[in-house]
Amino acid sequence: MRSKIYVLICAAVSFSFLAFTNNPISPKDKNPGFVGTKSCGMCHKKEKDGAQLKVWKESQHAKAYETLNSETADKISMELYGKKAIEAEECLVCHASGYDVDASLIGKKFKIEEGVQCETCHGPGSDYKSLKIMKDREKSVANGLRIFNSEEEIEKFCITCHNPDSPTYVEFKFEEMWRQISHDIPEKN
Ligand code: HEC
Ligand code: HEC
Ligand code: HEC
Ligand code: HEC
Repeated sequence: MRSKIYVLICAAVSFSFLAFTNNPISPKDKNPGFVGTKSCGMCHKKEKDGAQLKVWKESQHAKAYETLNSETADKISMELYGKKAIEAEECLVCHASGYDVDASLIGKKFKIEEGVQCETCHGPGSDYKSLKIMKDREKSVANGLRIFNSEEEIEKFCITCHNPDSPTYVEFKFEEMWRQISHDIPEKN
């Protein structure tokens, strides 16, 4: 009798644990889609919250695709791969997002022309962009938001593109480069 109760309790506990972990924090089966900087910018543009949209727009990252659409880029690309730069996945991999996913994952406001954009770094946002999820860091991460827990992690991430595989590579000085594009939410008091 005792052991039967024990089994029941165990089952109840693990069931509620499962129900809990399955609930809104768990990611969906479908891959998340790209929603575009306009969607992120709706909530991340206020000066008092750090004006992330503006900081990004003024950075070279916003122009990374445009850069491929130039004679200089085509010259490099033709020599290396025999095709125009915007047609070369070998270039797009560091200069754009969304070119390599199913069309069903591309939202109406997404623009490839926006180059290295919010979701290139933070992950496609269709599943985490709602206010209910965004307000909760843990839920956001479970729904695809990429965050960084230390300067080392940030630097490692930057170097996935800022490395000698770039045909125009210039030495990547992390501190200085991060200062140019960082877009923190100011401390509230
Ligand atoms: C409906 C409004 C809304 C939208 C749309 C939205 N966010 Fe957020 N986001 C928030 C709020 C609110 C927070 C929490 C801010 C805080 O903690 O002060 C947040 C936090 C964040 C954080 C910080 C997470 C952390 O804790 O380090 C990142 C990164 C982020 N959002 C990126 C994005 C990206 C990328 C998009 C577009 C795919 C996006 N957000 C769309 C409202 C939004
Ligand atoms: C997905 C690839 C990618 C990632 C990840 C990335 N960058 Fe970049 N970054 C680029 C590309 C491409 C350019 C060049 C854009 C152009 O000029 O058209 C660039 C340009 C820059 C520039 C301007 C450099 C200049 O001389 O004008 C800075 C600063 C910069 N990145 C900082 C960073 C930092 C800091 C990180 C990490 C938080 C980072 N980047 C992550 C691709 C990336
Ligand atoms: C080149 C990569 C890159 C791009 C592009 C980028 N971010 Fe970030 N973002 C980061 C990194 C790295 C951090 C630092 C995370 C940290 O400090 O914990 C960050 C932090 C944030 C934070 C949290 C700041 C804080 O103080 O917690 C928000 C909000 C955010 N980004 C929103 C955006 C939005 C919105 C866009 C597009 C308009 C964007 N980011 C574009 C890499 C990027
Ligand atoms: C491994 C990532 C990566 C790949 C692959 C890549 N780029 Fe870039 N590209 C960057 C980064 C990062 C920058 C900015 C800093 C630098 O030049 O190192 C950049 C900058 C540029 C610039 C501007 C240089 C300047 O001096 O202003 C051009 C043009 C360019 N890339 C063309 C291309 C072409 C064409 C291809 C494909 C043949 C390509 N890139 C592939 C990462 C990459």
